[in-house]
Amino acid sequence: MLRVAVVGSGPSGCYTAQSLVQLDPEVCVDVLDRLPCPYGLVRYGVAPDHEKIKSLQGSLRTVLEHERVRFVGGIRVGGPGGVPVERLRELYHAVVYCVGAATDRRLGIPGEELPGCWSATEFVSWYSAHPDAADAGFLRGVRSAVVIGMGNVAVDVTRMLVRGAAELLPTDIPQAALDTLTASGVREVHMVGRRGPAQARFTTKELRELGGLPGTEVKVDPRELALDPVDPATLPAVQRRNVEVLRDWAARPPAPAGRHIGLRFFLRPVELLAQGDAGGPPGGALERGADRVGAVRFERTVPDGAGGVTGSGRFEVVPAQLVLRSVGYRGVPLDGLPFDAATGTVPNVAGRVVRDGVPSPGEYVAGWIKRGPTGVIGTNRPCAKETVLSLLADAPALARGDVPADPVATLRSAGVDPVSWNEWLSIERAEAALGAGLGRGVVKLADWEGLLGAAHPS
Ligand SMILES: Cc1cc2nc3c(=O)[nH]c(=O)nc-3n(C[C@H](O)[C@H](O)[C@H](O)COP(=O)(O)OP(=O)(O)OC[C@H]3O[C@@H](n4cnc5c(N)ncnc54)[C@H](O)[C@@H]3O)c2cc1C
Ligand SMILES: NC(=O)c1ccc[n+]([C@@H]2O[C@H](COP(=O)([O-])OP(=O)(O)OC[C@H]3O[C@@H](n4cnc5c(N)ncnc54)[C@H](OP(=O)(O)O)[C@@H]3O)[C@@H](O)[C@H]2O)c1
Repeated sequence: MLRVAVVGSGPSGCYTAQSLVQLDPEVCVDVLDRLPCPYGLVRYGVAPDHEKIKSLQGSLRTVLEHERVRFVGGIRVGGPGGVPVERLRELYHAVVYCVGAATDRRLGIPGEELPGCWSATEFVSWYSAHPDAADAGFLRGVRSAVVIGMGNVAVDVTRMLVRGAAELLPTDIPQAALDTLTASGVREVHMVGRRGPAQARFTTKELRELGGLPGTEVKVDPRELALDPVDPATLPAVQRRNVEVLRDWAARPPAPAGRHIGLRFFLRPVELLAQGDAGGPPGGALERGADRVGAVRFERTVPDGAGGVTGSGRFEVVPAQLVLRSVGYRGVPLDGLPFDAATGTVPNVAGRVVRDGVPSPGEYVAGWIKRGPTGVIGTNRPCAKETVLSLLADAPALARGDVPADPVATLRSAGVDPVSWNEWLSIERAEAALGAGLGRGVVKLADWEGLLGAAHPS
């Protein structure tokens, strides 16, 4: 029997476990996660109003319920109080790290530290009920928001900022986030890209959805579209369709609406201005001296003909009391594992971790920590399979290692108190009960106390 630890129960961890048990009848897999809840970003990233994608949790559940797969929640690997990487290698024949890319990229511009400027990662974690997240006062006094970035996460947070109660009520969004979002005074959201429409990274289905939001008008400036002389027919299919949708919106006459989304292009953020510097909040919604962000100063860019842009020396200031930077995620180093700071990934060859330039049998990676933070849920399936094929090629040598019959029992006797699959099911029941009490469907528990209390009822 080959005993494998998979660290991380997001899509890449689940697909790794699935490939392992499908391809080798002699493998037993423990899927460890630092959280008491499985599914990674499918639970804590995919937007609550994307219920169909959320339902992929059902197929990941089937993997974690396989007779040779065991979910072991509430165990952090590495870091203070965590199980050291070296210890894990002693407990298992092989370890596959599927820890994702937990943090955000920064803009590196003045004013980024001002209250009111947050990463999309923080905002997403809050509305997704991640137990490490809290309401940082994201929407306090906000009428105008700027979202920097043109990827699918930027589309998600833009959409969530204008969603109404009727659309959010049936989702599993935590009650506090629901109350805050539906009571918010946000009237306009500017989603801003430093390049042009043909270089935007969102997909057309997600873009189109912005155009169908109740009570919300989408505005596109035809002059900004005209800045890029690209012929859509020469573009790859997704970009071509994106440009077609944007041109269609740009040609529409203005329509009365309570909320507005402006899609802006060729604007590179150069500085965030505090409210005092930006002339104070419109309508005086915030107390003076709060020193919260009041505007973003952008430099207008021009296409360089090769997909890039250059500065024009002309500037534009966009008022905003909330700035969400949605410029990509970033992997974090795990103590004891090599890390490439330039890419935010663990160096690897076909999933085998590379130490000192040499592949290290017994240690593997899959998912965002292997490839970097791009790709949809399904992209992680072939990625995980490649890693599993490397692992199984090494298996005859690895299986000769001496490991305990039950590594989790060994961890328990060392004082680790994990959350079992049955205890996770207790959390699910508590979330259903919470929702029923509120007259809603399932409602997520949003803090450690609530989750662990539900997992281990006394
Ligand atoms: C905001 C957002 C929305 C998205 N929406 C969609 C969508 O609608 N559709 C779509 O197809 N794709 C979507 N994606 C992309 C998709 O979520 C990713 O492709 C996928 O989640 C990456 O999988 P992963 O397993 O590598 O990482 P993750 O899903 O991040 O899983 C990593 C897991 O590792 C655990 N972990 C981390 N560190 C440790 C540690 N030290 N010890 C133990 N456990 C640890 C984490 O708790 C987590 O459970 C979205 C991404 C984001 C950021
Ligand atoms: N519904 C879905 O399917 C869904 C939902 C959410 C996420 N996802 C997936 O998850 C992955 C991550 O998405 P993401 O949106 O975080 O990343 P992304 O697709 O890489 O988009 C990042 C955006 O940030 C911009 N950017 C980067 N650095 C910048 C800077 N310094 N200043 C201004 N703009 C900057 C990029 O512009 P440039 O192009 O100019 O660099 C790009 O528009 C993607 O693969 C995405 O498709 C999918």
